[in-house]
Amino acid sequence: MTVDNPYKVRNTYVTGYSGSAHVMMIEATGLTYRYGDFVAVDDISFSVAEGEILGFLGPNGAGKSTTVKMLTGQLVPARGVATVLGTDVSRHPKAVHERIGVCFEEKNLYPRMTVRENLQFFADLFDRSVDVDELIRKVDLEKWASERAEALSKGMQQRVMVARALVNDPDVLFLDEPTSGLDPVSAEQIREIIRAEKTRGKTVFLTTHNMAEADALSDRVAFINEGRIVALDTPENLKLRLGRRLLRVRTRAGDDFAEEVLPLDDDATPDRMGALLRAGGIATVHTLEATLEEVFIQLTGRKL
Ligand SMILES: Nc1ncnc2c1ncn2[C@@H]1O[C@H](COP(=O)(O)OP(=O)(O)O)[C@@H](O)[C@H]1O
Ligand SMILES: [Mg+2]
Repeated sequence: MTVDNPYKVRNTYVTGYSGSAHVMMIEATGLTYRYGDFVAVDDISFSVAEGEILGFLGPNGAGKSTTVKMLTGQLVPARGVATVLGTDVSRHPKAVHERIGVCFEEKNLYPRMTVRENLQFFADLFDRSVDVDELIRKVDLEKWASERAEALSKGMQQRVMVARALVNDPDVLFLDEPTSGLDPVSAEQIREIIRAEKTRGKTVFLTTHNMAEADALSDRVAFINEGRIVALDTPENLKLRLGRRLLRVRTRAGDDFAEEVLPLDDDATPDRMGALLRAGGIATVHTLEATLEEVFIQLTGRKL
């Protein structure tokens, strides 16, 4: 994408993740959504740069799917604006839909149609020509192309869902918990597809409640809790800024092992370490990296 469009130039910022200027592909400004009186998404703002994967990480009910639906024009925000590829999603949903791909949380393949038919049916909704077989290769389902969707495993069905989101070769991909409920091998296959799209320069908005996944895939991670973004930064910065560095000391007395975890930055730790050293019997000492999960708990007081 070039920056000759004045709108895009205006929306060029310096982001935290690589320190250089980026064109913004997604911008949310004050997005708010209510189901009746209940505020599900409460005044959230963020932007996602071209080629970036933003992980949207939070527990069930945090407001992730509601946010995806506002960003993709399925729900109209009560307040705020969602802009995708420089276009206001609520005002011009069709223009946005031409250039984005969406994989919703709900499983919604046509069970009686084959894999190829499911993709062809969707491809026919777009003006551009689509090589469905190429798409099937991309998600490694050549052997299953003529099978009904209902005959496939959960992981394979999810790959069809992701392939369907790629049918129009979208610039921006929205994936709502694409690996939720999958076995580790299937989840990794989905992550490989996401990485391949990033390598092709695509932008990805990925929701997940899996902190390891957010850590492994995302350039930046937004923590979302009770409809609000409580932190947004690179996984490394989140862990460095907010995580506590810990020392794990294992001691041995005869056949018995004991373990103590000491905060590295605590005033009492040097004395305690000294006492353990003097007592003898230290078996191993390791520093523990903070995990995103610990940082999340520290910020919100709740688990993912
Ligand atoms: N159709 C609905 N009607 C009423 N409340 C809803 C509806 N959909 C979601 N909610 C509520 O809004 C909050 C956010 O939901 P959701 O965006 O689906 O969260 P997440 O995707 O993070 O699990 C939850 O408390 C959920 O119960
Ligand atoms: Mg959800």
